[in-house]
Amino acid sequence: MRTVLGIESSCDETAAALVTSDRKILAQRIASQDEAHRPYGGVVPEIAARAHAERIAPLIEATLADAGMTLDEVDAIAATAGPGLIGGVMVGLVTAKALAMATGKPLIAVNHLEGHALSPRLADADLQYPYLLLLVSGGHCQILLVEGVGSFRRLATTIDDALGEAFDKSAKLLGLGYPGGPAMERLALEGDPRAVPLPRPLKGSDEPHFSFAGLKSAVMRAKQSGQYADADIAASFQQAAIDCLIDRARRALASVGKVNALVVAGGVAANKAIRGALEALAAEHGLDFVAPPLALCTDNAAMIAWAGVERFAMGQSDPLDVAARPRWPLDPEAETVRGAGVKA
Ligand code: KG4
Ligand code: ZN
Repeated sequence: MRTVLGIESSCDETAAALVTSDRKILAQRIASQDEAHRPYGGVVPEIAARAHAERIAPLIEATLADAGMTLDEVDAIAATAGPGLIGGVMVGLVTAKALAMATGKPLIAVNHLEGHALSPRLADADLQYPYLLLLVSGGHCQILLVEGVGSFRRLATTIDDALGEAFDKSAKLLGLGYPGGPAMERLALEGDPRAVPLPRPLKGSDEPHFSFAGLKSAVMRAKQSGQYADADIAASFQQAAIDCLIDRARRALASVGKVNALVVAGGVAANKAIRGALEALAAEHGLDFVAPPLALCTDNAAMIAWAGVERFAMGQSDPLDVAARPRWPLDPEAETVRGAGVKA
């Protein structure tokens, strides 16, 4: 049995966790910066980096104390090394390097996206490779064939906004504040998903990708028209997003060989309506559906520690001069897609 300390600091959560190779989360702490960024309606990189620097050392100490452990009892130290806001990534990675150097423990540089992608295996011991993964977060919207640790085939990505970004921007248009995803989901419960005619960009398209910029613009026009209740706009937006997601996932399922499960991860996977629709799609295909518990969907350090556990079990670790990477695609072979604001 091995224990890995995981550190996450790539966006606006400072997090540390201790996870064992037999899937026990011994302790985990998350310091959210939502309050610091709320006045700006989104994450401000410089504010995030400073907040990570202030919080990270006490957070790690508190996490060790929660588990009643010392660093000496940890087998390896894993930290997010990218992709993400580079100032924040550097704070976490440099901290991990310092701890690794001081203790002589191995350092494992984790791709944040691999953290999300493998998190369902932390939650579910029965989940075997390969599986089809929808990775839906604030920065990413991808469909991946997960073949193993470090082995991913990207089948689809977004040509403009990520799905979480579309939730956040639409929420902002409705005056719901940041982060918008959970607020949109709550408001959607009170609305009629058929009330507002909204587009389903790229639905039915031959290309496998996503697009959400047009949906967000349509939300803006609906709001400005003054014709619709906010709850109806929220419900209609969420339904349009679900229709796009299901259409693209169905296309991906038809294009890959046999997979063991349909899996969803990333912050947007916290959305219960989206989970429900994907579960139905999996059932239609006779597949198991796996979604991590909500706390493992949004950014956290347990998923980073778990990716560290999986890499460590394969004998992998990284040199102390490993670089922080603002961009780090999971599938380096994936072609770049059309569109301007393309995310990894
Ligand atoms: O994975 P995550 O914590 O950070 C990134 O790596 O991006 O994802 C955050 C994103 C935000 O866009 C947030 O609005 C969205 O996940 N999100 C949700 C829900 N909870 C979080 N979107 C829709 N419904 C939710 N319940
Ligand atoms: Zn994330």
